[in-house]
Amino acid sequence: MSTPNTTQAYRASLLHFTDDPLHNEKALQWHEDGLLLIQDGRVQAAGDYSQLKDSLPAGTAVSHFAGKIIMPGFIDSHIHYPQTDMIASPAPGLLPWLEKYTFPTERQFQDPEHTGEVASFFVDELLRCGTTTAMVYCTVHPESVDAFFGESEKRNLRMVAGKVLMDRNCPEFLRDTAESGARDSEALIQKWHKHGRQLYAITPRFAPTSSEAQLQLAGELAQKYPDTFIQTHVAENKDECKWARELFPKARSYLDIYDSYGLMRERAMYAHCIWLDDTDRRRMAETKSAVSLCATSNLFLGSGLFDFPRAQEAGVPLSLATDVGGGTSFSMLQTMNETYKVARMGGTYLPAARMFYLATLGGARSMQLEGTIGNFAKNAEADFIVLDPQATPLLARRTARTDSLEELLFALALLGDDRSIAATYAAGKLVHERK
Ligand code: GUN
Ligand code: ZN
Repeated sequence: MSTPNTTQAYRASLLHFTDDPLHNEKALQWHEDGLLLIQDGRVQAAGDYSQLKDSLPAGTAVSHFAGKIIMPGFIDSHIHYPQTDMIASPAPGLLPWLEKYTFPTERQFQDPEHTGEVASFFVDELLRCGTTTAMVYCTVHPESVDAFFGESEKRNLRMVAGKVLMDRNCPEFLRDTAESGARDSEALIQKWHKHGRQLYAITPRFAPTSSEAQLQLAGELAQKYPDTFIQTHVAENKDECKWARELFPKARSYLDIYDSYGLMRERAMYAHCIWLDDTDRRRMAETKSAVSLCATSNLFLGSGLFDFPRAQEAGVPLSLATDVGGGTSFSMLQTMNETYKVARMGGTYLPAARMFYLATLGGARSMQLEGTIGNFAKNAEADFIVLDPQATPLLARRTARTDSLEELLFALALLGDDRSIAATYAAGKLVHERK
């Protein structure tokens, strides 16, 4: 008996990375007329159509996206799903923004109906923007994690998320305790971590809203479950930095608070990292803790400009993120646009190839998920998007006048948004198609 032919084949231009283009000029892989072959939700092969077409099993239907680009789905390394409904809420800085908008908005997640509705919208919005993996903050309520992973699982997505830990310096209605936070987190790890494609992140919101006892227990959990993720905020805003140092006077620096509780290790994702010093950066690199660079949020809240030269010199793993609702767009293309400008303001020139790397394989490497997501390596999970360089009249006009691949990608990064995503696939299945 012959086995049924389950190969899926997609023809278009193919773009992905095998390394960081900053260090390796052969990192960018481009097949002008390419073919992506998928079996059982995993990449079988990615290469030139002319070379691969003869290896197709007889009768394989080829989906042809003429004039479009297939690339790995975007990875957003820091985003808050409960803040979906408060995106674009104005405030003069991080701390007043948290008080006025964030905490009241997150309070609503004690209502399961509201929680489920927001989680579903949020996941669809990620897919509309071509983001197939994100590191997601839920709220302090354990049910908010169930709702999020439930929606992710329905669509078979590779997502990382966790319950916010927060036991002081916040309204009573959003407070856990050191013990209940650790207990709930452990139960969620057992329920969701590596359940299908779901991965758990231990999530102390930031040092100012956790007691020493809470950070201590978070560190113990991180040690007990070494393949879980850790996510938090650090050195985002000057007032926040001052506050953190007052609350933890023994720490050498804000980052050192987390270090002293065992929260720096592989799979730890630190959002912002604007006001670090060189000792902090060295420690990030040594421990393989990663930076989540949140350009739209940093500009919107006036937090500061990420220092590319110093981070690159120290060899800190870098990834890009939207940080919605502090960030102003779900689109990783718009995030690249603003990241480019943040880099320019600090004297660094970021080529488009590097931005596309950071939004795909760079994110995967920061999360220790290379080989699983982020590029088209053989057997990687087939999360990919179809980019449309003609999505809008202006994009069509500009991309018709580009002289190189770098110029084409640059135009997509600067002018693209959700409209540029013609389709999104997760583990080989269509999960969004632009109408
Ligand atoms: N620091 C602590 N909580 C938050 C948050 O929700 N958003 C941002 N941008 N920074 C934070
Ligand atoms: Zn954030």
